[in-house]
Amino acid sequence: MSSSFPARRLRRLRKNEKMRNLVQEVLFSTNDLICPVFVQENLKQRTSVQSMPDIIRLPLEEVNMEVQEIKDLGIPAIMLFGIPTQKDDLGTGAFVDDGIVQKAISQIRSNFGESVVIMADVCLCQYTASGHCGILKGDMIDNDSSLKTLASVALSQAKAGVDIVSPSAMMDGQVKVIRETLDSNGFTDVGIMSHSAKHRSSFYNPFRDAADCAPQFGDRKTYQVPFTNPREAMREIESDIAEGVDIVMVKPALAYLDLIAETKRTHNIPVSAYSVSGEYALVKGAAQLGWINETDIMSEIMYSIKRAGADMIVTYFAKKMAQYLNK
Ligand code: PBG
Repeated sequence: MSSSFPARRLRRLRKNEKMRNLVQEVLFSTNDLICPVFVQENLKQRTSVQSMPDIIRLPLEEVNMEVQEIKDLGIPAIMLFGIPTQKDDLGTGAFVDDGIVQKAISQIRSNFGESVVIMADVCLCQYTASGHCGILKGDMIDNDSSLKTLASVALSQAKAGVDIVSPSAMMDGQVKVIRETLDSNGFTDVGIMSHSAKHRSSFYNPFRDAADCAPQFGDRKTYQVPFTNPREAMREIESDIAEGVDIVMVKPALAYLDLIAETKRTHNIPVSAYSVSGEYALVKGAAQLGWINETDIMSEIMYSIKRAGADMIVTYFAKKMAQYLNK
């Protein structure tokens, strides 16, 4: 006989809700959420995003109202994305002092003080005519000239009062040049949460609808990590840590839980996960068809990302998840 005595009875600890609460291993709080906010220059009224139900582009005038709502739900941080009126070869709108994101940051800062953590995306793809995340040289996205521009973006956001800049362009050396630029301009307290292991993913497509940043030719395969290369993804994480990043990120989240777990196991640094637009759209779409229960699937996914090892999650479900947790 191979069975041992006493028999394991794992069901003992599942017999009622209080008992289950007592032994719950993975905890989730509203403090783990970062809520994306889209703000569009010269927008007349809030506009919905077709491929992302319940997500809206906001005019500058409505941003404070949105942040208040996020804050009232107990969510500590927002992630700002800007949509400019003009695009050009240099992505100028991303780093001018009166750019849409810079205006949003200073407005939120003066209204909310330190009571919300303001994060902002540092990238060029909404601002370049090409829709690419860096500056073009011929048909190539040129790494080193892009670095200078990304540093200017981060600096302009720091001047406006950002807490954490979040470079997502996947240019080599972006964390280093941003850290150096911030430090040499006196912004030693501004943090960096890099999109460290950002994969070339079709899960981003609905975001490109939200932020109007689809590449006008080609794709992002020359700068984003191939989803077939987990060790390469870990080298990206290592590079960002060596360059002085404060928080690393794995992106997308749900299809990349192995990399979140690996990052958590091998590095002693806060780990964020970005549950991206396509992950959101899948759930929303199936829920609209009545094939799944949106709230149940959302919470299961959020807990899975936490269980894998994420300390915080950027998600379009942030407000809905907070409402669920606050119940
Ligand atoms: C821009 C950026 C993208 C996302 C975040 N920042 C798009 C991309 O790289 O094509 C995607 C986020 C999402 O899908 O929710 N660099």
